[in-house]
Amino acid sequence: MSNTELDEFVERVRERSDIYSVISHYVSLNQRSGKYWGLCPFHNEKTPSFSVDAAKGFFYCFGCHTGGNVFKFLSLIENISYFEAIKLQAERLGIPLPTKKLSPEEERRRREEKILLKCNALAQEFYHECLIKTARGEVGRKYLAGRGITAETIETFKLGFAPDGWEVLLNYLTRQGFSAEQLEKVGLIKRRNDNSGFYDRFRSRVMIPINDVFGHTVGFGGRILVADDNSPKYLNSPETVLFNKRNLLFGLDKAHLSISSAGFAIVVEGYMDAISLVAAGIKNVVATLGTAFTPEHAKLILRYARKIIFCYDSDEAGQRATMRALPIVQAAGAEVFIVKVPEGKDPDEFVRHRGKAAFDKLVKNAASLIDYQIDYVLAHVDINTAPGKIQALQKILPVVAKVTGVNRNEYRKKIALALVLEESVVNEEWRKFSAYAGSSHQVVTKKISEPIDPLVRTSGETILRMLWNDSELISYVTAMVPLNSFAKVHQEILLWLKSCADSGKRPNDLNAAKELSAQAFEELSRILLRKIEERDEDDVHAFEDAIKGLNYIRLKKEYVEMLARAEEYMASGNPDYREKFFEAFKIKEQMDDL
Ligand code: GTP
Ligand code: MN
Repeated sequence: MSNTELDEFVERVRERSDIYSVISHYVSLNQRSGKYWGLCPFHNEKTPSFSVDAAKGFFYCFGCHTGGNVFKFLSLIENISYFEAIKLQAERLGIPLPTKKLSPEEERRRREEKILLKCNALAQEFYHECLIKTARGEVGRKYLAGRGITAETIETFKLGFAPDGWEVLLNYLTRQGFSAEQLEKVGLIKRRNDNSGFYDRFRSRVMIPINDVFGHTVGFGGRILVADDNSPKYLNSPETVLFNKRNLLFGLDKAHLSISSAGFAIVVEGYMDAISLVAAGIKNVVATLGTAFTPEHAKLILRYARKIIFCYDSDEAGQRATMRALPIVQAAGAEVFIVKVPEGKDPDEFVRHRGKAAFDKLVKNAASLIDYQIDYVLAHVDINTAPGKIQALQKILPVVAKVTGVNRNEYRKKIALALVLEESVVNEEWRKFSAYAGSSHQVVTKKISEPIDPLVRTSGETILRMLWNDSELISYVTAMVPLNSFAKVHQEILLWLKSCADSGKRPNDLNAAKELSAQAFEELSRILLRKIEERDEDDVHAFEDAIKGLNYIRLKKEYVEMLARAEEYMASGNPDYREKFFEAFKIKEQMDDL
């Protein structure tokens, strides 16, 4: 892929990306005086200082000084590189990536990956056909029918059946031209202990294909027909080059559009839970693959929605570890809610017995993570004794401390009520706790590095903003104001705007991101989003005043320096001091003329 191809690709993606719709996916924005405002996703705040100018294509936070264009935003919020952000956005918009030249090693890996995917696709088809068409699949059909799974659902998820027998799939896929090594590599067969050959990993199990987000089958879960103590209820593909449980969510390939439109994802623990919910018409559902929910999982979902509703069975043991993961998920930027399925049921049983409307109601009443954690603590300590109450407080207060954006007072009231304590007792414990926790919740803000004279700053801003809108003015500015009158960071932007004008290129957020230093790019974002108090952007007087302002500050500096020089000369008996004084006065005259 040549550089110009790449540039064209990036421009194509940028052209079709609307910064407002991208950001509003993550931040709730309100319009005010021609711009959009919201709570900054990059630092904790209670009043909005995060601003988006959709027309110009920039965002900037006046609280933590983070700014840039649509791709910078995506790279920060998704925690990926600038280029990965472009690729992500291209994927979302359905713009194909330009093909690039691969290294021989990459070339080999891709080829292999394709073969392994093909292998999985054929295995999936084989299991599926076996389930729906063959006599051997009869037991599988009966099992699924017994769980209320219809032919339509079998089709949707391409459910299958692995027949009884040690080499059925092995023989079939070998005949299709795959080697035993390839089949072993995707985890479909296993090597015999005595090394005398291979055998099918999945036997006599209902097969659930597990797909990546594009719908390629990358692994399988196989459920045993009759639970017994000798074999696991579910057998999953082993970790392979294609199958990584930390990065996969069952059902996401089918659910992501519904997740986007609903604005939230429902996460369940079991394959059958996800399948049942989808069959009942609740389509924004994914399942983890028998592992704890990871920040990687959260990131996958955050591409489509901010809100994640966990819907776990009410049984105790397994949940605890997963629950511990949830604050981490929240820290990854997700809004976390929890549904507890009542009556000791799992979501599958619940929705089959009580129906969609009852399940929707559970989801509607989902508890926030903090409410859930508080309830959890209250249910697990004896709150009828004084030591129990203190223990509960000590567990709950750190949770409350993490809450932002809501009223902590409300929570302290709630806790006092639940623990049957005086509010003052809770508040006192809170004070002790916050004093102890100290400064750990401070917002980290970047400093604007170079101290700049306020007049130089605002004048520079005004001029650069005018030049952004009208690059023809640039020769006028360079004629009227020497470059060194500008602040350093503004000089960089000015020179860049000049180079754009010289080469007949319209400055935009894309080339700015590419050609400016990170600091200058952020400063440009700030300038373009700064609220302009009384004067409007095209005000000629503001522009002239800015030019005067810059010249005035520069002259003042020169004047002060010249005077100092003159006095130095005079003190050391240098006769040139008269000339220096004269020059200083000339500068003063120029200042007065302004
Ligand atoms: P059933 O309704 O009994 O078919 O299962 P489920 O879908 O309700 O799943 P369950 O709540 O029993 O378990 C949740 C998830 O944990 C399953 O979907 C599997 O991913 C995983 N899991 C359950 N049992 C096993 C097991 O024996 N071995 C492995 N590796 N994973 C399992
Ligand atoms: Mn179940």
